[in-house]
Amino acid sequence: MIFTVAIDGPAAAGKGTISRAVAERFGFAHLDTGLLYRAVGAKGGDPVEAALTLSDADLTRDDLRTLEAGQAASRVAVIPEVRAALTDYQRSFARREGGAVLDGRDIGTVICPEAEVKLFVTASAEVRAHRRWLEVGGDEAQVLAEVIERDKRDAERATAPLKAVEDAVVIDTTVLSINAAVDVACRVIAEAL
Ligand code: C5P
Repeated sequence: MIFTVAIDGPAAAGKGTISRAVAERFGFAHLDTGLLYRAVGAKGGDPVEAALTLSDADLTRDDLRTLEAGQAASRVAVIPEVRAALTDYQRSFARREGGAVLDGRDIGTVICPEAEVKLFVTASAEVRAHRRWLEVGGDEAQVLAEVIERDKRDAERATAPLKAVEDAVVIDTTVLSINAAVDVACRVIAEAL
């Protein structure tokens, strides 16, 4: 069975948690596409070269989850050649046998416009910054400033900006608990299967 679930949305909206839960529930493979951009940013040197030569070892570095790695990712993610170099890998992952969940910023818009299910997971910047701050600590106002800066860069870039497609189901986790959000996602997928 070929079945793709595309999950897009801004940083710390709950995409990762929802994607992992959905993948486990339906037995689908999961790709966190943010990790690809984080790995390109962390590799240093020429980002296009880094994207073209990305390997499994680059994706398993343990410094990819930091705020700095997120900022570096969003800077290389504006480069069209970097995005192009990562496209085939994501598309073949999406159409693999057995079903796949991909989460990111442009999965429903660019990578898999033909995905059987498209979800857009969002929440207010304050709520997302608070969640990120609970994970990383430090100065909460600084975390909020970084979330807003990254949102702006992701939404305003010319190539593959963050936006919800018309046929995406929007899940707002500002007040919805993560469990309730997972339930909504599972229901939408079960109906489309
Ligand atoms: O989702 P995550 O926070 O790991 O993504 C890091 C950065 O990578 C995002 O801020 C965004 O700039 C970029 N990204 C992207 N397209 C994706 C996934 C991530 O541009 N599909």
